[in-house]
Amino acid sequence: MHIPFARKYRPRFFGEVVGQETPVRILQNAVKNDRVSHAYLFAGPRGVGKTTLARILAKALNCKNPKDGEPCGECENCREIEKGSFPDLIEMDAASNRGIDDIRSVREAVNYTPIKGKTKVYIIDEAHMLTKEAFNALLKTLEEPPLRTVFILCTTEYEKIIPTILSRCQRIILSRVPDDKIVSYLRMICQRENINCPEEVLKMIAHVSDGCLRDAASLLDQVSVIPDKELDINSAEELLGIISLERVHQFMALLLDSKVDEAIEFLRDIYRRGFNLTRFWEVLEEEVRNLILCKSLKDPKKVLEDTSICEKFKDADLTRLLYLENLISRGRLEARSRPPIRAYELAVIKTILIKEIISIEEALRTSPGRTEKEETIIDKLRHTLSPVAFKALEEAKREERNSETVFILDEETYDAFRSEFEKVKTAFGGGVDFKVIKKKEKMKRSSTSLFGS
Ligand SMILES: Nc1ncnc2c1ncn2[C@@H]1O[C@H](COP(=O)(O)OP(=O)(O)OP(=O)(O)O)[C@@H](O)[C@H]1O
Ligand SMILES: [Mg+2]
Ligand SMILES: [Zn+2]
Repeated sequence: MHIPFARKYRPRFFGEVVGQETPVRILQNAVKNDRVSHAYLFAGPRGVGKTTLARILAKALNCKNPKDGEPCGECENCREIEKGSFPDLIEMDAASNRGIDDIRSVREAVNYTPIKGKTKVYIIDEAHMLTKEAFNALLKTLEEPPLRTVFILCTTEYEKIIPTILSRCQRIILSRVPDDKIVSYLRMICQRENINCPEEVLKMIAHVSDGCLRDAASLLDQVSVIPDKELDINSAEELLGIISLERVHQFMALLLDSKVDEAIEFLRDIYRRGFNLTRFWEVLEEEVRNLILCKSLKDPKKVLEDTSICEKFKDADLTRLLYLENLISRGRLEARSRPPIRAYELAVIKTILIKEIISIEEALRTSPGRTEKEETIIDKLRHTLSPVAFKALEEAKREERNSETVFILDEETYDAFRSEFEKVKTAFGGGVDFKVIKKKEKMKRSSTSLFGS
C-alpha cells in the first residue's frame, strides 16, 4: 500500500527537521542539558513541523539511549512513539475535544506518574480552539505543573492564545520554510523513491506550497504518478492545474517586449487548457512587483527571498515595469466586472505601448553618441514628457543657442507644467532651457529667463 510522502517522510530526529534551525537548537539543547520546560507553545503556519517536533521532543525525553539530545530511534520507547502506541504520550486535538471535561480528565491523569517512560508528554493540537473554561482548567495545571510532565500546545493562531497561558509557556516559533530548503527536501524524497523529477518541477511545487512542507510533499506525491519519461514541467502543470513561475516569466518577457500577438496566444492557451487564470494573473502581478523591488532597492536580498528574477530581467527598465504593473493591476480590478479573460486580454493589448516608452535615463544614455538628425531634442522630449506638456512645448517658440534648445513660454503655461519642465532640464543637463515671459511684458517685447543664462 502506498504511504503518502507527507507521512512517510515525517522527520524522526531533530537533525532531519527542515528549515527550523532555531527551534531545533533550543529544544535539543534543553534535552541535552536537562533544562526542558514544563510547558511549550509551538506556534507557526500549518505543515511546518509543529506536531513533528513535538513528537521528536517526546521521543528524546523518553529514549533509553539518547545521544546529544537526539533520540536513538531504536529502543522500545522510541519505536512505540513512532507507532503511536506509547502510553505516556498523549495527543489531544483541541478542535474536536474542546471541552472542559477533556481537560479535567487530563488534570486527573496528570497526577499519575509515567507508566513506562521517564516523562509524560501531552501534545494539545490546535490549542487556540479550546474553550475558555477548558483554558482556565488547563491554566490551573500549568500553574502547578506535576513532576515529569511536559505540555506542548500547538497552534496556527498564536494571537488567539490568552495571555495568561502565554506567560506560562515557553514560546517556540516555527516559520514558513524558504523555497530552496523545500526543494532540497523534495530532492531527498525523489532520491529515496527513485523519482526522476526535473528541478523546475520541484521549484514550481516549492513556490506554490508557500512554505508548507506538508503541501510540498503531497504535491510531489501527486506528480509522482506521471511516468518518469513524461514527467516534465508541462505535464506537472497540467496535472496540478498550476502554471510554473518559469512560464509566468516567459509571459512577462513577451509583455515587456510588446509582443502582443504571442502574449494573447499564450493567455488563450492556458485558458483553453483550463488553468485558473485569476491565480495566474495574481502570480504575474506578484512577480512584476518583485522585479520592481529588485530594480528600486539597494539590497533586494533583504526583502526578497528569491532574487533570481533580478538576474533574469537585468535589462528591464523601471519606467516600463511601472507602466506594466499599472496595467496588470487595472486588469485585475476589471476582471471583477467582466469575464477575466477579456479583462486580461485588454491589458495585454495595452502593453503594445511599452516599446514606445523611453525612460529619462535611456534618453540621456543615447544622446551623446548620436547625431542630431537621428535623435533630436524634440523626439526625446516627446517620450519623456506627458502628452499635454509636450504639446505645449511643441507649440511654443524656440531658439537654438549653441547646443541648447530654449523654449519660450508664457508664465501660465510654464507654471502649469513647472515640475515636468524642471525635471527635464536637470535630466537633459544643459541641452534644454526655458525662457519665461510675463504676459504683460510680452507687449513690451522684453523677456526674463527664469534660470538666467
Ligand atoms: N520542518 C519540517 N521538516 C521536514 N518535514 C516537514 C517539516 N514540517 C512538516 N513536514 C512534513 O509535513 C508533514 C506534516 O508536518 P506536521 O504535522 O509536523 O505539521 P504541523 O506544523 O503540525 O501542521 P498543522 O498545523 O497542520 O498541524 C510531516 O509529516 C512532514 O512530512
Ligand atoms: Mg500538527
Ligand atoms: Zn530511543
